[in-house]
Amino acid sequence: MRFTPLPPRIPKPLNTEMDALATMTATANAPAGPGPHGTLANRPATAANPPASIADITAAPMTAHRAEWENRLFADREMLAHIADTVGGPFHVLYPARIAANIGAFRQVFDSHGVDGTIYYGKKANKAACAVRACADSGAGVDVASIGEFTAALTGGIRGDDIVVTGPAKSEDLLLLAASRGALIAVDALDELARVIELDIAARILLRVLPERSGSRFGLNPADLATALDRIPRDRIRLEGFSFHLSGYDYAPRADLASQLIGNCAEAQRSGHPATTISLGGGFGVDYVSAQDWARFAANVTPDWFHGNSLRRYEFPREANEAFYPYHFADPGAAMLDRILGHRGLAERVRAAELRVAIEPGRALLAGAGNTVFTVQGVKTLTHHGYPYLVLTANGTSLSLSEQWFDSEYLPDPVLWPERAGTRTPTCVGGATCLESDMLSRRRIPLPRAAEYGDLLIYPNTAGYQMDSNESRFHDLPIPPKVVLHDAPDGVGFTWALDSAAL
Ligand SMILES: Cc1ncc(COP(=O)(O)O)c(C=O)c1O
Repeated sequence: MRFTPLPPRIPKPLNTEMDALATMTATANAPAGPGPHGTLANRPATAANPPASIADITAAPMTAHRAEWENRLFADREMLAHIADTVGGPFHVLYPARIAANIGAFRQVFDSHGVDGTIYYGKKANKAACAVRACADSGAGVDVASIGEFTAALTGGIRGDDIVVTGPAKSEDLLLLAASRGALIAVDALDELARVIELDIAARILLRVLPERSGSRFGLNPADLATALDRIPRDRIRLEGFSFHLSGYDYAPRADLASQLIGNCAEAQRSGHPATTISLGGGFGVDYVSAQDWARFAANVTPDWFHGNSLRRYEFPREANEAFYPYHFADPGAAMLDRILGHRGLAERVRAAELRVAIEPGRALLAGAGNTVFTVQGVKTLTHHGYPYLVLTANGTSLSLSEQWFDSEYLPDPVLWPERAGTRTPTCVGGATCLESDMLSRRRIPLPRAAEYGDLLIYPNTAGYQMDSNESRFHDLPIPPKVVLHDAPDGVGFTWALDSAAL
C-alpha cells in the first residue's frame, strides 16, 4: 500500500472513556514497585471485580530512548513518508554510523584497561550487509555460524582471519572453509575436534568451555577439555585459546569464567599450545527504556493490559525478568565490558598473562542503530470490560518483530508518526495475516493520539535480533527491505539506499 501524507488535524477522541485516559492516572502514578524483578502477580479483573477505569486496561508506557539520528529522522517532515511511498510496504531502517560508534565505545573500554581486545560482531543478530561493512570499516571482525554468514562476512570486506566461527556441530564444508581462510574455529565438542583434525590442513581453534553447573548443550566439560589438549596435533592445529557464551546478562559470572579461562590458557601453554586468547562471547545488554518505565511496567503488568487477556502462553504470576528481556539496562554494551574487565582485577590478570580478550556482541553492537516502520492499514475499535481500545492492522507481520515468537512481547513502545498531540489512546497492533496470534503488540499501548489509516508506526531499536531472524513470505507478503541511512552533507538530513544483502 502507498503512504498518503495526512494533513495535521485536531484529534477527535473516540469517546469520553478515551478522554478519561488522557489523564492516565492509574498507571502513570502507580508505584515503581520492586523493580525489574517484580512478580507478575496482578490478577486479571473479573465481572465481579471489573477494572476501575480505562487506565486499568492500558499498559504502562515504555518510552524508548531515541538516538540522535532518530530525532532528526522523525523531525524530517518528508523523508519517512518518501521512503514508505517508494518501498510500498514495511521496511527496516539501519544507520551504520551508530554501529561504528558502538564498536568505538567497546574499543575505548579495552584501551582504557590496557587490554589487547578484539571485537567480533555476532552476525546472527542481523542479516544486513551494511552492518558487516561497518565492522570492516571500523576494524571489527565477525562471529559467524553458517556458510551463508561466513560468505556474507567475506563479501562485506572482512578478512578470513578476522572471522570466528561459533555454533554447535559445524558442517564439514564450514570447517573446511574456515580453516582454509584462516578463521578461528570455536570447537564445541570432541567429535567436532576429530573432524577438524581429519581435514588434514592447518586450522586455528578455540575450545568452547561448558561453564560449571551449567545445563547448556554447548561446550566441553573439564574431562573433555583435558582429552582435547592431548589429542590436538600441535604441528597443524593451533589451539589459540578458550571461549564461552553465557545466557543472561550479568557481568560478574562472565568475569569469573574469564578468570577460569586464564587458568585454562596457562595449562594449555604448559602442554605446548600457544593459547593466548580468551573469548567472552556475547550477551552485552542494551538499554531500551528508562529505569522508571521498566520498573513501573514490571511491577504492575497484568493480563488486563493485553488483547485476549493473556500474554501468549504466559502464566501469571511470573517474574517479569523471565517473561521479558530486561528492557532497562544500567550498564549496557561497552559499560558492561568495563564492569567485566574491572571485576576482581580481571584486566590486570589478563595483562599479566599477556592474553588477548575477544568479545562477540550481537545485540549490543546494533544498539540504537535501527528501527522498523509499518504503515497503518486498518483501525478498529474493540472493548474490554466495556472500555474501548483500538486494534490497528499494520501492513506487515509480527514475523518482523522476533520477540513475539519467543512467547514474549517487544516492549519498547512504537512511535506513531507524524507525531502530534491528541488524546491518549490504548492501542494494540496486529499483523496483516489471517492468524489471531499475529500480533505485533498484544498489549494496549498508550499511544499519544488515536492512530489513523496511513499513519506510520515505528518500532524503535529493532536492529538487534528483532528484524529478520523469523521473517517469512507467509501469505506471499514481501519481506521488508532494509533501508540504509547515511548523513547528508548538510549534517541534518539523510541519503538512503536499499541494503545490498539478499532479502
Ligand atoms: C557463541 C555466541 N556468541 C555471541 C552471541 C551473540 O550474543 P548477543 O547478541 O547477546 O551479544 C551468541 C548468541 O547467541 C552466541 O551464541
